[in-house]
Amino acid sequence: MTTTDRSARAVACTNIALVKYWGKRDAALNLPAAGSLSLTLAGLGTETSVRFVAGSAARDGDRVTLDGRPADDRAARRASRFLDLVRARAGLDLAAEIVTSNNIPTAAGLASSASGFAALAVAASAAAGLALDGAQLSELARRGSGSAARSIFGGFVEMAAGERADGVDAVAHSILPPQAWDVRLVVAIATEAAKAIGSTDAMERTARTSPYYASWIASVAPDLAEARAAIAARDLERLGAVAERSCLRMHASALAADPGILYWNPITVRAIETVRELRRDGTAAFFTIDAGPHVKVLCAAADAPRVQGALATTPGVLRTLVAAPGPGATRTE
Ligand code: PMV
Repeated sequence: MTTTDRSARAVACTNIALVKYWGKRDAALNLPAAGSLSLTLAGLGTETSVRFVAGSAARDGDRVTLDGRPADDRAARRASRFLDLVRARAGLDLAAEIVTSNNIPTAAGLASSASGFAALAVAASAAAGLALDGAQLSELARRGSGSAARSIFGGFVEMAAGERADGVDAVAHSILPPQAWDVRLVVAIATEAAKAIGSTDAMERTARTSPYYASWIASVAPDLAEARAAIAARDLERLGAVAERSCLRMHASALAADPGILYWNPITVRAIETVRELRRDGTAAFFTIDAGPHVKVLCAAADAPRVQGALATTPGVLRTLVAAPGPGATRTE
């Protein structure tokens, strides 16, 4: 029997996809149908500590605290199922206490599952005594949430769809460290409401019913190649063009599902117009949108104040925030 607690703490930043992930090739292992490419965002993320309690048994149940309060049943079950993967791998049968807090502003419309499962993967595996490398951590984080696999790494990150049935090759890797290109992502918050339909259900419905799903998936590989080349050349206009079309094609495939999935609201469309006006006036700014109405705008660091000003004065936009490229998930003391 283990006589001392085993614990570890980790931090991770969220990320925003510039080439989107939308569709799974395997639901059980959470394997993506295509690759994706993202930017990890500094200062927006999750801190998590995991303590396996000496003398306990996994069947006693885990205790999950989220932002200072006991997590709701759904979130607690999701965290426990994730810990089961770590316990199985480490041959451990101890209950855990998980304490996690997000510094992503409440209802900011930025996924906390990406940073949440990346931080949990790092903290839980370390607490369990597993020494996992980046690819193994990414594979583990992916089981919690597809986008979390990317938050293991900093800066620009590419996620591979992989080909293997066991998913060991469905992992992310870094393609450019955070300090290598001084871009910004400006976020325009378009609602305080929770999203209408979660990404897993929406992806499943899109794959099952959208006549555009196959063409969407076929469009991802060429977009990844183009985005990689644009990043290597630090060519913002080229990267921005890929990001906008990847976003629009992802949403087009979801819109064509049955029943159709619409994440936008009128403020989303106005913010897109603002970005197009900025470009007409000579500012290189490019939008992307995830499973919600918020608009996220990629631009050079020097242009961020102008872009933020234009979005902040777009009618209906509630708030804006600006993020720089951020680091990968790390263990902390
Ligand atoms: O990681 P998930 O399962 O929440 O899916 C993320 C889906 C999008 O945010 C819409 C796109 C992406 O690549 O992050």
